[in-house]
Amino acid sequence: MAKVLVIGNGGREHAICYKFKQSSLVDEVFVAPGNPGMGDVATIVNIKANDYDGLIKFCKDNKIDLVFVGPEIPLCDGIVDILSEQGIDIFGPTKMAARLEGSKVFAKNMMKKYHIPTAKYETFSDYEKAKEYLLTQKCPVVIKADGLAAGKGVIIAKTKEEALNSLEEIMCNNLFQSAGKNVVIEEFLEGEEFSLLAFVKDDKVYGMQLAQDHKRAFDNDEGLNTGGMGAYTPINHLAQDTYEEAMEKIMKPMAKAMIEEGCPFTGILYGGCMLTNDGVKTIEFNVRFGDPETEVILLALENDLYQTIMDILNNREVELKFDNNHYLGVVMANNGYPGSYEKGAIIEGLDNVDLCFHMGTGIDDKGNVIATGGRVLFIVGKGDSLKQAKENAYANVKKITCSNLFYRHDIGDKGLKNE
Ligand SMILES: Nc1ncnc2c1ncn2[C@@H]1O[C@H](COP(=O)(O)OP(=O)(O)OP(=O)(O)O)[C@@H](O)[C@H]1O
Ligand SMILES: [Mg+2]
Repeated sequence: MAKVLVIGNGGREHAICYKFKQSSLVDEVFVAPGNPGMGDVATIVNIKANDYDGLIKFCKDNKIDLVFVGPEIPLCDGIVDILSEQGIDIFGPTKMAARLEGSKVFAKNMMKKYHIPTAKYETFSDYEKAKEYLLTQKCPVVIKADGLAAGKGVIIAKTKEEALNSLEEIMCNNLFQSAGKNVVIEEFLEGEEFSLLAFVKDDKVYGMQLAQDHKRAFDNDEGLNTGGMGAYTPINHLAQDTYEEAMEKIMKPMAKAMIEEGCPFTGILYGGCMLTNDGVKTIEFNVRFGDPETEVILLALENDLYQTIMDILNNREVELKFDNNHYLGVVMANNGYPGSYEKGAIIEGLDNVDLCFHMGTGIDDKGNVIATGGRVLFIVGKGDSLKQAKENAYANVKKITCSNLFYRHDIGDKGLKNE
């Protein structure tokens, strides 16, 4: 029987632990640093994601068979290189391969070089040159900080004035610190977004069922961009052709391109895609499971997660299978998120909810579960139709009482409108 260590502390990691826990091959799931809400499926280990010495010692002492990393920061920092050097089995991209997410300039240049469809763009390290170029572009225009910025580094400017202000903030006033030293300025694409996640090893790409995130904070896609306010899967209104096109033109070519560049990719590759009038285009790549898409995709995945990863690591073919249910999840977030928010409101009703992943909860002195994160809970509904999954999810949301949480009411509506 195997022991697995999951790294991270959000809803995504809770779902990953939940899925590993279901494996008949796994007898113990650990999570570092985790959050108290994950105690149902994992043993919480008090080691930070960037404490590599601590993690190495823990893996050796506890004979961990597989390490799985949730978030992008340790991956871009090279955790896979560091742990594998110690002979620890870990599934994820190396530091060089993680540049696909860690540097938008790298990702865009790769797409250009290997003819992978994406928005037209230029990259800049010089403010004056960037400004000159910006003045020639039509609005809306998209400005992206090169480096990691916790999902906040993308500005969609509706006017030239807004674009120029943003550029100055990013390049001259260090709005995103060093992440904004270089920028990508790209054309604004119109269309419908979807997420295609795949297990990848070198040129083998195993695509998962499509999912859709809801990036904006409020109903009708209003408000600021967030880490994601809800997700559902499958996406039946997008044709199988769309999936095939994204696999053949985006995911597989990028896996091949990474080999060509001498930094083959192993791990979860996330294609942020958009179906435009001109075919499927790439919005971005991430090098890990998306949060919150993972929380619904892993529920639909019928394969044993541990077996699947072991097969992929050992170059055995796998066939991914997904069940026929619909899964829809609603994020409950602290008022103020994605800006500043108060922590500590007591959450009641969790025992009455069918299934919930903890994104940002803690325990107070009296043993109450409290809301500590920006995003706090991910409440899941399951059904034999999208409509039923939505009804179940919101029926569960209503069972939660907390004075400081808000949520969107329209998760899944794009799918319902197109059914
Ligand atoms: N060229 C574009 N045209 C239209 N919308 C875009 C474009 N680029 C980005 N966006 C919008 O901005 C969002 C964030 O952009 P992107 O995915 O590149 O940033 P990110 O910060 O890396 O996101 P994540 O946190 O999901 O990794 C996208 O989901 C999309 O809605
Ligand atoms: Mg990204």
